[in-house]
Amino acid sequence: MIEHPPDGVERRPATAASRILLGGPVALVTTHDRGADNVLPVAWHTPLSAEPPLVGVALHQTRHSLELIRASEQFALNIPARPLLHLVQYLGTYSGEELDKFDATQLETFTATHIDAPLLKGCVAWVECELQEVLPFGDHELCIALAVAVHVDERSFGERWLLGAEETRPLHFLGGNEYAALDAAIEARLPQDFESPSNVLADRIAEELELTEEARERREERLGEIEREIEAGNVVDLADLEDEALPPLDLSTGVIIGEPPVLEEQ
Ligand SMILES: Cc1cc2nc3c(=O)[nH]c(=O)nc-3n(C[C@H](O)[C@H](O)[C@H](O)COP(=O)(O)O)c2cc1C
Repeated sequence: MIEHPPDGVERRPATAASRILLGGPVALVTTHDRGADNVLPVAWHTPLSAEPPLVGVALHQTRHSLELIRASEQFALNIPARPLLHLVQYLGTYSGEELDKFDATQLETFTATHIDAPLLKGCVAWVECELQEVLPFGDHELCIALAVAVHVDERSFGERWLLGAEETRPLHFLGGNEYAALDAAIEARLPQDFESPSNVLADRIAEELELTEEARERREERLGEIEREIEAGNVVDLADLEDEALPPLDLSTGVIIGEPPVLEEQ
């Protein structure tokens, strides 16, 4: 018997699979070959093995960086954070074949410990890689490499991404020119041995839904208050609003103090 999908589920072209799987931190791949450096952003990268530490980066056959990686058999993954948002997009818009991106952006670098490719200042983690093999998959080539050295900015990364101040968090590519930053770590709990998994897990799903609904209601309440204060021409402090909380408010009548998080969108 055919079980139909739940309401709200729609079919998409199979090509949407890659965008659905996007999510890891964007990496800037730096390369060096015969005196020239290049850099491109990638979102299609993945860990492949823990021991030895292998990573894979899928590069379209037309990328200039692919040529440099094949020739030098090395590259570095540099993980940019929020302040490099616009730079990342720029570096992904031009090819090193047409433009010296280091010259154009005056990117500052420091020396890697094991490879010749430069490491980018302003990033928050770095993985130095030695190429093992290149495997063709459709229109991309998977560059499989051994991680030979890793460096992290301790404000950004401890045993995991710390998700502290916004400027220390990595960028995650959504597609087009849109990115996201992770919000906060949330902890998952397992049922105890004596508990029935299906009951406990169903309860936890309901609990999580309630928590997210409660948070939304609290935000809506607070925004309602703010709108009323603004209409009355009162002093409004926007400093305690979370990023996603700011709706299209008409701020022209009230007296605003505090830093509204996304004012430029208004
Ligand atoms: C955020 C972002 C992620 C990208 N991810 C990839 C990727 O994983 N693989 C790829 O081949 N191109 C990717 N691109 C496109 C290349 O970065 C872009 O074509 C770049 O200009 C190629 O530079 P190059 O020719 O100097 O190597 C991405 C672009 C952006 C903006």
